[in-house]
Amino acid sequence: MRRPFIAGNWKMNTTEDEAVVLARAVAAGTGGVLCDLALCVPFPHLGPVRSALAGSHVALGAQDVYWEPKGAYTGEVSTAMLASYCRYVIVGHSERRQLFGDTDAWVRRKLEAVLASPLDPIVCVGELLGERRSGETEAVLERQLAAAFTGLPLSARVTVAYEPVWAIGTGETATPAVAQEACAFIRASLRHLGGEAADSVRIQYGGSVTPENAPDLLACPDIDGALVGGASRKSDQFAAIVASARP
Ligand code: 13P
Repeated sequence: MRRPFIAGNWKMNTTEDEAVVLARAVAAGTGGVLCDLALCVPFPHLGPVRSALAGSHVALGAQDVYWEPKGAYTGEVSTAMLASYCRYVIVGHSERRQLFGDTDAWVRRKLEAVLASPLDPIVCVGELLGERRSGETEAVLERQLAAAFTGLPLSARVTVAYEPVWAIGTGETATPAVAQEACAFIRASLRHLGGEAADSVRIQYGGSVTPENAPDLLACPDIDGALVGGASRKSDQFAAIVASARP
């Protein structure tokens, strides 16, 4: 069975002091939980937050990575650089795709590099509002998944986050039925790409997850966890979301 996995994505927020205080509060507020937990923090805070989380049940993650091992790539970080700090890395977040030009092909190269490293990927997919309205949701998900995963091994190391772009930071959450339908489609697409190993991949829902909507979302059969933005920066809200995850 897939163990639930809840990750916080702090995005470009927090000072170093705030990051340490928040990480400690999350670790203190989520003791005894029955799911895997991670905090994906800004690059400069990986070191301080690693110290704050040392010995705790909360894992650390980064928010992006570059595929080359080293070289003249100003501003970028490699898998090896991250692997000495953290376990997880987000790949293909919609904000990277929309604001920074990450293409399906780039997401693929990043994912290949991550799978060849000790890091575990959280691969984000999701449709724009216009794509949903015009009935293209499944085609978009299928295209993003095929670009990322064709020919790569699926395993429990892999997490896919379904983040409909229209639900991110908008307060508009996908209903459990809509989220479950998309996550079931993602599971079927992964089975098509990678066979039975798709059943070990965890699929998170992301997009305006709150303590109020988390229980119904997390009860859906193909939703194995959540990738939480805004509510992950309030330790009490994040703890409440985590508490609603049941194996
Ligand atoms: P919000 O929870 O703030 O909508 O953000 C979701 C997200 O993008 C997580 O990666």
